Amino acid sequence: MNVSEAIITRRSVRSYKNKDIPAEMLQRVMESGRMAPSARNKQNWKFVIVKDKEKKDELHKASNGQKFVKEAPTVIVGVATKPENEMKSGVPTGIVDVTIAMDHMALKATEEGLGTCWIGAFSQEDVKDILNIPDGCRVVALMTIGFPEEGLEPVYKERKNREDITCIDTYY
Ligand SMILES: Cc1cc2nc3c(=O)[nH]c(=O)nc-3n(C[C@H](O)[C@H](O)[C@H](O)COP(=O)(O)O)c2cc1C
Repeated sequence: MNVSEAIITRRSVRSYKNKDIPAEMLQRVMESGRMAPSARNKQNWKFVIVKDKEKKDELHKASNGQKFVKEAPTVIVGVATKPENEMKSGVPTGIVDVTIAMDHMALKATEEGLGTCWIGAFSQEDVKDILNIPDGCRVVALMTIGFPEEGLEPVYKERKNREDITCIDTYY
């Protein structure tokens, strides 16, 4: 599967098979994140791989009770370790860096036949407590990952038109 195919095929998967991800497969997914770019190559990030049943159950409670968070065999928790850092533009570096890395993971997971779903609806404080994440860090996103209950065939994606999101030479 090439990158274009992975982009088209990836979709949010909210139903997973009760099957662990082979260690080498998960390793390849994590490696794709490790290779992601980051501002000034600082890599101020940490990714907590959560497989423990009780911890996943707690994460599901901390994520608005979204059931598939505990049903997925693994949840990857992306953490910015220096969230106070900003780029010259005023944009928070850690949020951008961690997001890029996690998207690399999502696309690699698709290539591996795995499904993922971003989770942004979670309690920052609860997730930190559950995983012992220091106060100075910021949890950027959770991502469920596992074998999808249904196949990963490309599906129609509801998206805005190209013309509505692109402008040429100036903003309009
Ligand atoms: C930053 C972010 C946070 C998201 N949070 C959630 C979430 O908490 N729960 C959920 O079910 N889906 C969540 N999603 C998935 C989106 O709903 C989904 O990506 C969007 O509807 C497009 O569908 P697709 O991923 O299948 O292309 C999130 C996606 C992103 C990018």
